[in-house]
Parts: sequence; structure tokens; C-alpha cells
Amino acid sequence: MLEQILASLDESEREAIDEEELQVLERVESELVTFPSEPSHLLPILQHIQARHGYLPKLALRLVADYVGVAIGKVYGIATFYNQFRFNPPGRNPIKVCLGTACHVKGGDIILENFERRLGIREGETTADREYSLERVACIGCCALAPAVVVGDKVEAYVTPSKVEGIITEIEVRKEMAAREQKKNETANG
Ligand code: FES
Repeated sequence: MLEQILASLDESEREAIDEEELQVLERVESELVTFPSEPSHLLPILQHIQARHGYLPKLALRLVADYVGVAIGKVYGIATFYNQFRFNPPGRNPIKVCLGTACHVKGGDIILENFERRLGIREGETTADREYSLERVACIGCCALAPAVVVGDKVEAYVTPSKVEGIITEIEVRKEMAAREQKKNETANG
């Protein structure tokens, strides 16, 4: 199934699929057989792919459409109707900006705009290097800390525009330190 879909793509579409995405698609194809191939299982299948892989790759939607025997338009329709689905791979540092009522009142939308500007992506997108992804979420249950943001699995409280810069800088510094550490270990071992 996947092979046929890949064969039907033009060159630029094929080039746009990187190794990581290809691996996800291969896994999705092998997981599909654990579901009955019936249209009524469309939603549970999409939920499974989202939960297992963190997003719905575009071609996975085609795989699902073929598997359950419905038009691709219907799969898109369902996937875009529910906001639990993402269409871009999550970044290594997923950033979730709370826009629940308490956070919204305290300027959560301005915080989201600041992240968008700082990272050069819009909400729902992932940076080209897959380092960061950005999304808005509903109340995360820490309203007393509003406006709140979740970075990876850490909650950042009382976020201000200058704190946005601090959050990104901290991640960049940590990344640089890890890279240096790795280089040091490689030199020591070899
Ligand atoms: S509204 Fe943001 S934590 Fe509740």
C-alpha cells in the first residue's frame, strides 16, 4: 500500500519526505492491520496514529483512506474537525501555550505571538530542524500560575515576553552543553 502511494508521488513530493517520516509511515502501515478495515474504525485509527507517533503525516491519511476504503477528503475532514490532531511532527522541544480563560485574560495570546516571532513558526507548526514545535492548548490545570506554558514536560509560570526569550535561551544553552559534552566524550574515547 505504502509503496504504491510513494510510487504515485511526483519527484518534489517524494523529496519532501525525509527518513524519519518514512519510518513513521512504515510503522503506521504495519500497525493498520491491527484494526478492522472498516470505515467505522477511521477515528480510532487516527487517534492511534496521533497517540503513537505524535502527529498525522499527510501520507498516513492516504494510507488510512485506502485501508478503510473511504475517500481521502473524508479522512481530511475528520482529521481537521477534531483539534486533538496535529499534522506536523512534534519538535524535540514541544512548546504548549495555554489559552484557557485564566491564561488568556493574563495575556496568553501575547505570549503565543512572542513564541511565534522568536521561533519563526506559527502555532501548529514545527521548525525546519524539528527542534521546536508550538501549539495552543486549553486549560492545563494551573490557572494560579497564569499565563502558563508547558515546555517539554515542565510548566513555566507567569510567563512574560522577556521570559519567552529566557526559555529559548535556556534550551539553546542546554543543547550546546550537551553537544560539547558529547564531543568531549568522543575525543576521550577515540
Ligand atoms: S487557563 Fe491556563 S492553566 Fe488554566
